[in-house]
Amino acid sequence: MSFSQAANLVETAFGHRGNTTTEQDVTNPAKDRAKYADPSGEKMKALVWEGKNSVAVREVPKPRVVEDRDVVLKVTGSTICGSDLHLLHAAIVQMQKGDILGHEFCGVVESMGSGVKGLQKGDRVVASFQIACGDCLYCNQKLSSQCEKTNANTLEHGMYGSPTAGMFGYSHFTGGFAGGQAEYVRVPFGDVNLLKLPDSVPDEKGLYLSDVLATSWHCVVDTGVNKGDVVAIWGAGPIGQMCADFAFLNGASRVIMIDSNWRLDYIKTKYPKVETLDYSALPRGSSVTSELKNMVHGGPDVALECVAGEYAKGWGHYFEMLFGIETDTSEIVNEMITSVKNFGRCGITGVYAGYTNHFNIGSLMERGVRLIGNGQAPVHLYWEKLLSMIEKGEIDPLRMVSHRVSLDDLDTIYHKFDKRDRADGLQKIFVQTKFSAPPSPGSPQLTRFKE
Ligand SMILES: NC(=O)c1ccc[n+]([C@@H]2O[C@H](COP(=O)([O-])OP(=O)(O)OC[C@H]3O[C@@H](n4cnc5c(N)ncnc54)[C@H](O)[C@@H]3O)[C@@H](O)[C@H]2O)c1
Ligand SMILES: [Zn+2]
Ligand SMILES: [Zn+2]
Repeated sequence: MSFSQAANLVETAFGHRGNTTTEQDVTNPAKDRAKYADPSGEKMKALVWEGKNSVAVREVPKPRVVEDRDVVLKVTGSTICGSDLHLLHAAIVQMQKGDILGHEFCGVVESMGSGVKGLQKGDRVVASFQIACGDCLYCNQKLSSQCEKTNANTLEHGMYGSPTAGMFGYSHFTGGFAGGQAEYVRVPFGDVNLLKLPDSVPDEKGLYLSDVLATSWHCVVDTGVNKGDVVAIWGAGPIGQMCADFAFLNGASRVIMIDSNWRLDYIKTKYPKVETLDYSALPRGSSVTSELKNMVHGGPDVALECVAGEYAKGWGHYFEMLFGIETDTSEIVNEMITSVKNFGRCGITGVYAGYTNHFNIGSLMERGVRLIGNGQAPVHLYWEKLLSMIEKGEIDPLRMVSHRVSLDDLDTIYHKFDKRDRADGLQKIFVQTKFSAPPSPGSPQLTRFKE
């Protein structure tokens, strides 16, 4: 039995918490057609998880309004996130066969419950990746990713001390909600979790308010990037790229990106000021930390983690993770701690699932390093501001969008995105459905990955 299945059994034995205000474990309308599927019997295409390292585009029932404040969206754009790879690899537990994935999506309001205020059929909207109730300790401060009322999972509560919010397409560990890599999606508390997009902002820009823009902005401001800071960023994926963009916007004097592949060159073409460090091509006897100390007296002021805890560099952590002795490697966090200046700051935005060994607590303590868990980013705190920055042209999400692809090809693309080959050159994708508008000016044309 896999670790993920065992976690499901443990959670079933404990049972859910009772204080949530939305239906849990609605990860595919086929789970209970009478309750969750549209009465018309209409079908839709959706990307479903079928087991570790296995996803497929399948026909499933179209969802219906289940609760009073639900909105059903016709999806016009979605994408794959580095976070989806953690689900593909089953690094996040409690996935179940048939779960529909996708936590970043935009669309058009198709139908809604009578309790939804401020939205109308036909409105163009983007969803936040987290499902917030809009009225709890955290939602009242717009800290939407930590909503207390949308995730009843007791395993997460037990492991972390408090639960996080429910999330779209992100396993039963975060409530179990069908995602938006589909033609339709159900959005609980639609009046809270959807933001209207103005005509001036096309889907290819607005979509990324769901997650990556808010996440990168949060990573930069929550870790405290100040004017003049030298910022080192681990991971040159879309999150790392937008962190570089936003670090400069917040006054960083230098940004150094650390990775091991073509993405360093990709980012360099977009921001020539960025400096790069390829950890796979280090001179003998040197390390990421020693190279950073050579580049910056004392080391960078700030380190941002935009990778994840599941990618071990050395055999030691590889085997400890394989045998379940830890869930995450501490290698990157240790590099960040030892690299920054004494009293420097480190922020963790890449996903860490549980426990880690060989953590360099001595360097952290003795050198006064501040280690900050940035958390799942509270999208609602930032998305209106970021939307207005897009409207004014102050930020341009298209800088990271390398490809437009079809939902029909998405299972193949998951594996390509996972491999990160230079030949494919996938940085961030825009996934179109049959409801999408043609490509907007300046955004990529469609690339097909299947016959
Ligand atoms: N906290 C949040 O709210 C939030 C939201 C979205 C994404 N995330 C997480 O942020 C992380 C980055 O997301 P993404 O979409 O850019 O992911 P991605 O998988 O596309 O990119 C990760 C990059 O890290 C690089 N990498 C791997 N090992 C490395 C190492 N040892 N040192 C430096 N680089 C290394 C990879 O080559 C890759 O280019 C993921 O863990 C994702 O789950 C967090
Ligand atoms: Zn994401
Ligand atoms: Zn709430």
